[in-house]
Amino acid sequence: METQRIGHDITVLRNQFPAPGIGFVPINAFVLHAAEPVVIDTGLSLPDRGFLDALGSVVDPTDVRWIWLTHPDRDHTGGLFDLLEAAPRARLVTTFLSAGALSMEQPIPMDRLYLLNPGQTLDVGDRTLTAFRPPLFDNPGTIGLFDERSRACFSSDCFGAPLPDAQLAGCDDVREVPQDQLRSAQLLFASVDSPWVHTVDRSKYLATMEPLRAMDPAIILSTHLPPAVSRLPEFLDTLSAAPPADPFVGPDQQALEAMLAEFEPATAPG
Ligand SMILES: [Fe+2]
Ligand SMILES: [Fe+2]
Repeated sequence: METQRIGHDITVLRNQFPAPGIGFVPINAFVLHAAEPVVIDTGLSLPDRGFLDALGSVVDPTDVRWIWLTHPDRDHTGGLFDLLEAAPRARLVTTFLSAGALSMEQPIPMDRLYLLNPGQTLDVGDRTLTAFRPPLFDNPGTIGLFDERSRACFSSDCFGAPLPDAQLAGCDDVREVPQDQLRSAQLLFASVDSPWVHTVDRSKYLATMEPLRAMDPAIILSTHLPPAVSRLPEFLDTLSAAPPADPFVGPDQQALEAMLAEFEPATAPG
């Protein structure tokens, strides 16, 4: 994993996942260096991703007080149980639904849990974090968070985009991605991650963007996008276009076999 410091308060722990036929999906976790340090999500669940080593290079795990899990999908929970062990003072901040889903894998002691719903806040010593439900999500337990002090919004899956190569997926600022390309990639991700967006009542869906608009974050930190500075109006405009965008249809068995055939070595004649 690579780390990227943003200002005083935030470190990005960066990884990515190549999705065949779709692109390179950034997989970020974050450390918020608050008076009571907060780790936000815990990376991919693949072996050898070195989440704890990367984390330990920017904060002593025994100092971590909060682990904010935006939702329990496997690209967010990779280092979770190791971190709970390495950070004995930390409590796991998440929703009732996310805690329930996690407990099907491993029980979480009740005294390590801290349940929050969208709209509720958490005091982390030198600032207050506000939980919110992002307009797009793929898991009913999802909560993002807004840090009033750094004005950073951690949006979970929302605003994610598969990018054309590993370099762009691992870049320091999403402005390196051309604007048109980014918009199409975010619309593709919206359809892949939240296919229900094609069936929503448009006006009710647009209303779900209001909490974000009111927060007016200076930086958007999505799990699946390089850091995005001052991009909220543009990103909300992109999200507004998601309901009528082309729905994603995944490759079927025939497409998979065609893909595999491309990788097969050519047989020598005779
Ligand atoms: Fe997800
Ligand atoms: Fe995700």
